[in-house]
Amino acid sequence: MILKGKKALVVGVANKRSLAWGVAQSFAREGAELCMTYQTERLEKGVKELADTLPGTRTLMCDVMNDAQVVTLVEQLKAWGGIDILVHAVAFARTEDLEGDFKNVPIEGWHTALDVSAYSLVSLTRAVAPLMEGKAGSVLTLSFLGATRAVQNYNVMGVAKAALEASVRYLAMDLGPKGIRVNAVSAGPVRTLSAAGISNFAKMLDFVAERAPLRRNIDQAQVGDAAAFLASELSRGVTGQVLFVDSGYNIVGV
Ligand SMILES: NC(=O)c1ccc[n+]([C@@H]2O[C@H](COP(=O)([O-])OP(=O)(O)OC[C@H]3O[C@@H](n4cnc5c(N)ncnc54)[C@H](O)[C@@H]3O)[C@@H](O)[C@H]2O)c1
Repeated sequence: MILKGKKALVVGVANKRSLAWGVAQSFAREGAELCMTYQTERLEKGVKELADTLPGTRTLMCDVMNDAQVVTLVEQLKAWGGIDILVHAVAFARTEDLEGDFKNVPIEGWHTALDVSAYSLVSLTRAVAPLMEGKAGSVLTLSFLGATRAVQNYNVMGVAKAALEASVRYLAMDLGPKGIRVNAVSAGPVRTLSAAGISNFAKMLDFVAERAPLRRNIDQAQVGDAAAFLASELSRGVTGQVLFVDSGYNIVGV
């Protein structure tokens, strides 16, 4: 129960395959109280059904690009008594920008990917940081190897993840003096709704399973358990880091 007494906001559950759902399950098992948000009304029913399986879990709608919804979310979290943990598991790029040549990405595709997938960590952290005052706050986001390596078809999302990981370091510098830590989990490929948008994703899964030191793909529970460590006091000396949960794939050269 390494998260007993902690309140966590988990942003990015779309369905039972979402990495954020893996995180929510690990957090609940470790004793955290949860508030899960969903992006649109279309996702409400499914996310509420998942939340019902973790007793006491609240749900709220919040599109992170909608300032008014973020303000409402913050007000509700304040009434809840603030939060100790923010999990940002949000990303989006247009399907046409996740295939073919990277050089063809138009400015609109660039803005969409970077605004939704990287800037939203900055804006959301800024919004909730006051709610973490006086607590040992922890902010977590989810990244991918495409931030630092060229991964076929990941394209503009790789640039967005590079911006995300740099933002983790700058936010860690900003918020460290307030006792708030900021880290990322870089997950190996997992079949989710977002992953389905990446061309030839199935090939990526096979490639990683063949070459990773552990010779297998990861699952959402492994991401959730690593996130629980980073959100807990067990990692109190860790900030500004990217922790790979990828069966070791990132260390492999030739
Ligand atoms: N699946 C993978 O292979 C993999 C690997 C490494 C990192 N990640 C990262 O994990 C995170 C979660 O993705 P996932 O794979 O679980 O897929 P997912 O589709 O289940 O989750 C993505 C979430 O982002 C949310 N989202 C997008 N735009 C939003 C907005 N404007 N406001 C609020 N929410 C918004 C979606 O509603 C969805 O819940 C993403 O950052 C993704 O890049 C995924």
